Amino acid sequence: MMKKYVIVCGGGFAREVISWIRQIATGPAQGEIVGIIDHSPSCLEGFDYDVPYLGSTADYQPPADVELVLAVGSPKAKQELTSALIARGGKFATIIHPTAVVASSAKLGTGVILCPLSVVSADATVSDFVTVNVLSSIGHDAQIGTFSTLSAHVDVMGFAKVGDGCLLGSGARVLPKVKVGAGCMIGAGATAIRGVPDGMTLYSQPSKRM
Ligand SMILES: CC(C)(COP(=O)(O)OP(=O)(O)OC[C@H]1O[C@@H](n2cnc3c(N)ncnc32)[C@H](O)[C@@H]1OP(=O)(O)O)[C@@H](O)C(=O)NCCC(=O)NCCS
Repeated sequence: MMKKYVIVCGGGFAREVISWIRQIATGPAQGEIVGIIDHSPSCLEGFDYDVPYLGSTADYQPPADVELVLAVGSPKAKQELTSALIARGGKFATIIHPTAVVASSAKLGTGVILCPLSVVSADATVSDFVTVNVLSSIGHDAQIGTFSTLSAHVDVMGFAKVGDGCLLGSGARVLPKVKVGAGCMIGAGATAIRGVPDGMTLYSQPSKRM
């Protein structure tokens, strides 16, 4: 039986996720998008997606036969939305685009989104509600904490650890075995070359001559 998906939040990432789900043509994750919930009823106004607005994230009651798709990048928003919707009985889907590559030894949590051309390598752990945008890769034995988001073109290398609730901007890199604490922001294009304490923002990366 085809799954029934309800998209949670109606921003730009939601429109991407709608597009990716519609490209899942076979397999158990194939499903129909039955609606979207957002604080704004006009979230998809001006776009041609043909997805009905079902109500506000603040009071939507998820029916038992739908799976929620967490289509938002902000770790804080993900935390708030999931706790509110799970309290109302919501169940979250893990969405894996057909072009994503996932090692059979990798562990994926609930509510994970793997966008096109992302890679999760051998023995990596991707915790609940992690979002991995296009062309990003998670190296062998790397760990990504709950609610963290990897934007596009991110490279988390082998044995690296990214804590809970981190946001890695586009093109960010975490070198092998480096540990990024919880709640960190790694700016677009920045490279974490050594441990990053909880809550820290990194940005920029002047390359230096050896
Ligand atoms: C690092 C980041 C979080 C800083 O945001 P911010 O606190 O609003 O910082 P500002 O934009 O005010 O910039 C502050 C300074 O840092 C510099 N800076 C900001 N981000 C930078 C980056 N990624 N690389 C290099 N320099 C950067 C700015 O040029 C500015 O320098 P100045 O004071 O000399 O003019 C943000 O710029 C970033 O990289 N976010 C990730 C965005 C992303 O990839 N999103 C995912 C795709 S949607």
